[in-house]
Parts: sequence; structure tokens; C-alpha cells
Amino acid sequence: RVARDRALRHAGQMSNSERSKLSIVGAGAVGTSLAYAALIRESAREIALYDIQKAKVDAEVLDLAHGTQFTGSSRIIGGDDLDVVTGSDVVIITAGAKQHPGQSRLDLAAVNVGILRGLMPGLVERAPDAVYILVTNPCDILAVAAQKFSGLPSARVFASGTVLDSSRLRWLLAERTGVSTSSVHAMIVGEHGDSEFALWSQARIGPVPIQSWRPVDRAPVSADELDSIAEDVKTAAYRVIEGKGATNYAIGLSGARIAEAVLRDEGAILPVSSVLDGYHGISGVALAVPSIVDASGVSALIDVPFSEQEERQLQDSARTLHEELAKLGL
Ligand code: 2OP
Repeated sequence: RVARDRALRHAGQMSNSERSKLSIVGAGAVGTSLAYAALIRESAREIALYDIQKAKVDAEVLDLAHGTQFTGSSRIIGGDDLDVVTGSDVVIITAGAKQHPGQSRLDLAAVNVGILRGLMPGLVERAPDAVYILVTNPCDILAVAAQKFSGLPSARVFASGTVLDSSRLRWLLAERTGVSTSSVHAMIVGEHGDSEFALWSQARIGPVPIQSWRPVDRAPVSADELDSIAEDVKTAAYRVIEGKGATNYAIGLSGARIAEAVLRDEGAILPVSSVLDGYHGISGVALAVPSIVDASGVSALIDVPFSEQEERQLQDSARTLHEELAKLGL
């Protein structure tokens, strides 16, 4: 079907999101923001929202449906019956406990792995051909768990990784350099969490390596500033959670964007997190690295040259996650 759809699309007979179904598991702040973003962006033809809390999910679906006059051709359905996900092309999982002020993402591992263990069999039964995207934290740990619980190929089960963190990075660099976020090419990689880091050796403003950026009207970005920008990204979610109790809009947009890369068979390069098998010598943990995302899920990883320091940081991130998986018996 993918090949046929691609052929039709190239022949101009089919719009990008036609006949696509995106299911979102969990109607909390993240799941509903994701549904809202996906509706407005027309990420999928049909969006299904599932939650165990009937009154809450029914109300969220109604509220979203009431706005569809203004969102284009996407349709929203949902409820507390898992059958709403049947036939999905993409399933995004947002269900689980969320971080409270002072908690790290890894603090949520045990409870959220437990929730996922209960969810995966029913999901895979109803959407056996879907690509599964883990957004619930700690998302890198949950990607490994979901892959084990489902038995699906690791290409089809991955986490949102550092797509959001990279967007935070690009926004900060855009503000600093005065260029558009779309002209900033920079990535955060590693754990979506406290051991993540910026891949500065590959960062560019337009075509110019960030270290050589010499605008006529501004000071160049110093190494200290780069450090503080990376630190700012790493601590961003803590600040948002401190102020409003959760992060939801930016992760909602990030999730919708990743789903589009799959549903439109884009071949987009995104720092999503899939179970590695020998990438820079790392296996058995999911870490965000530049990945090609298309209708098959993560179809390939990009082998970027890392600086020595970045290589150490990647290995540290892998160690952190290996230790966490061992604690969980995964
Ligand atoms: C975020 O980075 C909390 O993981 C969530 O916004």
C-alpha cells in the first residue's frame, strides 16, 4: 500500500494525508495538545484519541470536533474503547504518569513501564501494521520496553527522542543569531533527559558552521554561550513544569511532526530514539540520533562524525540508560 500510495502521490492524484489514521493513546495535556496540533496541521485524515477515563476523553473529543470547521479535512474520533485505534497507520503513546516539579524523567520509569506492559498487547492486536511512537517519559526507556512487549521490529517502535529538545535549541539559536528557526541546522542527541547534549560539531547557521558564524552586525557566538544554550535546553522542561505543571504545546507539535514524516513517507531526518544495534558500538538501548523517518518507521540511522567529547557524551548517555534498563529488569 505504501508503494502504491507513493506512486499515486507522485502522480499528483492523492493528497499527502489521505486515508491516513493517527491514534493517540492518552488524553492528558500532551495527548490532547498533540491531537489539536495534528488537526490544525492536517497531519492525518483521521485522528483517534483513546483514554481509560471515559468522561474526560469524550469531552476532549467533542471539544476538538467542535473546532473542525476551522481545521481542514481531518476528522477526530475517540473514546474509552481500545477499538478506536483499529487500523491505525501510526499510534502515538502519551499515557502515563507525568513529571512533578523536582522529578526527573527517569523517576517515572517503573510506573510508566507498568502501564505500557498492560497497553501494548491490545494495541498491537488492533493495529498490527502501525508504526508506534513513544512520547510518554522516560521515552527512550519506554521505546525499549514497547519493542520488547510487542515483538515488533525496532524500526517500527521508536520514541520522540530529542525532536523537541532540538526545536528548543533551534529556537534559542534563531533568537541569538537573528535567522529563522528553519535556517538553523542543529541537533540535540542522546537521552531525552539529563544526559542529552548538543551536536555542536555539526551545527550550522544556513551553510556556515556555528563556530565560524561571523555576522556583520552581531558578535559571534562564543564557546561559553554555546555551553549555556545547551544547558538552557537541557533544563527547559524543568522550568516549564515549575511554572505550569506540565509541558504540552511544544511536545504536541513535535509529535504531530514526527507522525507526518511517517504518514507522508517523507524520509525526513529527525533525532528520534530507536533501539540501537551497533551504532557507535552501542546496542540494546534506545537513544536519539539522526534517523531517517518514513512510512516504514526508522528506515536508517545517519552515521555523523562526532567530536571526541561528543563521542564520550553519547557513550555516557548510553551507560545511563543501560543502568536504568537493568534496574527495571528490561
Ligand atoms: C519535555 O521535554 C517533559 O519530556 C518533556 O517537555
